[in-house]
Amino acid sequence: MNSPFQFGKTVSGFAFTNRKEQLRTFTENLSSGISSILISPRRWGKSSLVKKCMDEVFEPDNTYLVVMIDLFRIRSEEEFLEIYATELIKSSTNKIEELVVNIREFFTILIPKISLSVDTINDISLSFDRQELTKNRAGILDLPQTIALKKKKKIVICIDEFQNILNYKNSDLILKDLRSSWQNQEDVTFCLYGSKRHMMSGIFNDSSSAFYRFGAVIFLNKIEKQYWIPFISRAFDNTQKHIPDNFCGEIADLMGNHPYYVQQLSHIVWNLTENIVDPSIISTAMEQIIEMNSPFFIREFEALSSSQINLLKAVCYGEKHLNSIENLHKYRLGTSGNVSKNKTVLMKQDIIDIINSKVFFIDPVFEQWFRNNILS
Ligand SMILES: Nc1ncnc2c1ncn2[C@@H]1O[C@H](COP(=O)(O)OP(=O)(O)OP(=O)(O)O)[C@@H](O)[C@H]1O
Ligand SMILES: [Mg+2]
Repeated sequence: MNSPFQFGKTVSGFAFTNRKEQLRTFTENLSSGISSILISPRRWGKSSLVKKCMDEVFEPDNTYLVVMIDLFRIRSEEEFLEIYATELIKSSTNKIEELVVNIREFFTILIPKISLSVDTINDISLSFDRQELTKNRAGILDLPQTIALKKKKKIVICIDEFQNILNYKNSDLILKDLRSSWQNQEDVTFCLYGSKRHMMSGIFNDSSSAFYRFGAVIFLNKIEKQYWIPFISRAFDNTQKHIPDNFCGEIADLMGNHPYYVQQLSHIVWNLTENIVDPSIISTAMEQIIEMNSPFFIREFEALSSSQINLLKAVCYGEKHLNSIENLHKYRLGTSGNVSKNKTVLMKQDIIDIINSKVFFIDPVFEQWFRNNILS
């Protein structure tokens, strides 16, 4: 029997829970033409939320075209322009003959090479002369509004891992051009999301950034325990196994409500269970989840300096004032300048996050591994 729990990819249908409020706000914003920015640490559910919203609201609505772009592997401005143009043109139709007509119509100066391996739209790729791409940047960036007008539709463009643009050469200039083009496109709304919280916040909340106040910023939270309990319980029941509610709550607690890990731990518990969950299964599952992930944790740990390790120890002990003379001394954290620098480095590496000046581990299983192996 297949596991009712899924992790490591965008989830939908039975594997998706809650997010009703965020979904509503998000849908309302986008349909009133307010661009939306979604920020959270890794694996809290951004891509799943955006996909659900598109699949259920905008894709079925004939007045909209939806464009999905993932910048995860896109390393330069040229590649960005190429994928942007390609995905836009692909979304303009689902018929190949019409696509060829659209390409002729929309690309009058910059003519792409079309490669078509199998005859579905998804397998088509367009390639452009790289140097010509940057020369025609303005035209490409304006393409959505051009398509919207010709097709008499509104367009929603979803861009995942948007903060990657900061790694491109001349990123400031690119962001400036994107903003000035995008803010004039009346029929186009953008949904921009990404997992590097500090980078995303820098782009959208920093008054010196071109994208300052570009749209409504939503910080996606984890999924609360009250939603996990019925979700986990139902998933067991549907697969002829049973888990008492207190164990569902324990799974959520152990994983700090982290969506990816709650699903992973639930999956392990489900796998170990023949009929009904008992306490020994939960503890075995906990050992297994740490064991399964430990190769990544060891690699992550080996890259840390000793003062960074000491800082993480102080976080584990719940110290609130890492800069106090007493704690600098007690945990050998170096100077308070070192503490600030290490916090920034650990944040950039997605190891810790700071919300309302509280420092915490982003990864609850790494924290547990660290407590078991480093603290003790
Ligand atoms: N609404 C949800 N209901 C249940 N599980 C969820 C939900 N959202 C996310 N998850 C769990 O978290 C995992 C990660 O989700 P997703 O890929 O959408 O997150 P993300 O924030 O886009 O991650 P990344 O930053 O790595 O791109 C999913 O595979 C699933 O296990
Ligand atoms: Mg994602």
